[in-house]
Amino acid sequence: MTQDEMKEKVAAAALEYVENGTIIGVGTGSTANKFIDALAAKKEAILGAVASSNATAERLRANGIRVVDLNQALSEVDSLAVYIDGADEFDPAKCLTKGGGGALTREKIVAAASDRFVCIVDQSKQVPYLGAFPLPIEVIPMAEALISAEVRKLGGTPQRREGFTTDNGNIIIDVTGLEIHDGLALEDRLNALPGVVTNGIFAHQRADIILMGTPDGVVTL
Ligand code: A5P
Repeated sequence: MTQDEMKEKVAAAALEYVENGTIIGVGTGSTANKFIDALAAKKEAILGAVASSNATAERLRANGIRVVDLNQALSEVDSLAVYIDGADEFDPAKCLTKGGGGALTREKIVAAASDRFVCIVDQSKQVPYLGAFPLPIEVIPMAEALISAEVRKLGGTPQRREGFTTDNGNIIIDVTGLEIHDGLALEDRLNALPGVVTNGIFAHQRADIILMGTPDGVVTL
């Protein structure tokens, strides 16, 4: 089975976690895109979807799925029933690195507004600890040098993502060279730096369920 086929299988499997009559959160990326395409078959059953990026909102609309602004959604329901999204890496505690597509801030907001997070990945994303994938940090542009210096003090190597602006008008600094054994602590430490909007460690908003595509089928973790 190809990586693409594994993504299709987990995307289809995630439909089981979509309950009728709910508003759901939808992530960003190639695996989330496959989920959106699969969700089209269930579009009449849900009240709508909150998108974690402009690209996801466009794809939802193209599939005829009602896109709901998060503030509007939370005036209709207490919380989103489920958030479904991919990840760049996941560790044994279901902590994630996200933001390879640059949508980490809205992804974390929508995940935080959801009752549970179902993460859809192929097996290439499984790691013993986070850090192999460069850690994205969304930063207010004027703070680039400051945050880069702070990241170097932590042992990381920062690199600005060239030619990229987030949906929120900010830059991304990708950090290599970190071995992340305490995701909660590093997530908090980075978020405490003035100028950081969000970092791509999802330890507070870790997955509740991981659907992992393997050559033998979908494994639920
Ligand atoms: C988007 O900003 C990311 O967090 C994605 O969820 C992540 O990069 C996974 O993307 P793929 O499904 O394309 O691997």
